[in-house]
Amino acid sequence: MGNKDVLNAPFLRAFVKTASNMYRLGWDERNGGNISYLLHEDEVAEYLNINKVVRTIPLGFDAKELIGKYFLVTGTGKYFKNVEEDPANNVGIFRISKDGLNAELLWGYEDGGKFTSELPSHLMSHIARLKVDPENRVILHSHPTYTLAMNFVHKLDEKEFTHTLWEMCTECIVVFPDGVGILPWMLCGTNSIGEATAKKMEEFRLVVWGMHGIYGAGKTLDEAFGLVETVEKAAQIYILTAHLPRVNTIKDSEMKELAEYFGVNYRKDFLNL
Ligand code: 13P
Ligand code: ZN
Repeated sequence: MGNKDVLNAPFLRAFVKTASNMYRLGWDERNGGNISYLLHEDEVAEYLNINKVVRTIPLGFDAKELIGKYFLVTGTGKYFKNVEEDPANNVGIFRISKDGLNAELLWGYEDGGKFTSELPSHLMSHIARLKVDPENRVILHSHPTYTLAMNFVHKLDEKEFTHTLWEMCTECIVVFPDGVGILPWMLCGTNSIGEATAKKMEEFRLVVWGMHGIYGAGKTLDEAFGLVETVEKAAQIYILTAHLPRVNTIKDSEMKELAEYFGVNYRKDFLNL
């Protein structure tokens, strides 16, 4: 058990590739952004000795709903551009301890580092999303340029923000029919922003942190990434056109038609029909 090289594990390859793509797209400058991926015990056990805890790191909050669960998480202060070439120093795999208060490190953070400072938001969001969707496995946080730019010039109201995004690409309402939740600017890295994010995650798979960035949730890395990517595309079109006279627009009746044709359960209260 646990004798295959974890650097070749499909879950690790997909994770570091996601970090590289986020970096390449300019969403994650320096150490900006973080990713957490819920792993199944049997997939971890194929690569690591799950009885050998390398280090125990206090979480700083109670994660009892995740006791015994395994996570692959980016390290705090680590640059996204370096994740793919050096996963052992930049990411870690840990299990939530039996008392729910510690991370039992099994691999990674080799230079003595630890998980992201945004772990409260990640783990609390996992707890919230798992209640809505037992298959949810990924929470990711990022600072995508146009989404952030839009934060400074658009009202931070969930209905209005979502509606503007839906108007910018035909497929937006199909990709995120549940819309985008929004938190006002808050101090990051705290348990309070974690609790507020998780509360929004009961309702939304996308949560904007006012003037900071965005969170996405999904069953897979691709799903969470794709949600943020679609918001970012719509935000880019908004920023490219916001100062120009609007000649054409996708109408609310057309968005309704799209949502019904693709059979998605959309936020009807976010349309003006
Ligand atoms: P970390 O380096 O601790 O992951 O923090 C980055 C970040 O984006 C904070 O919101
Ligand atoms: Zn951030």
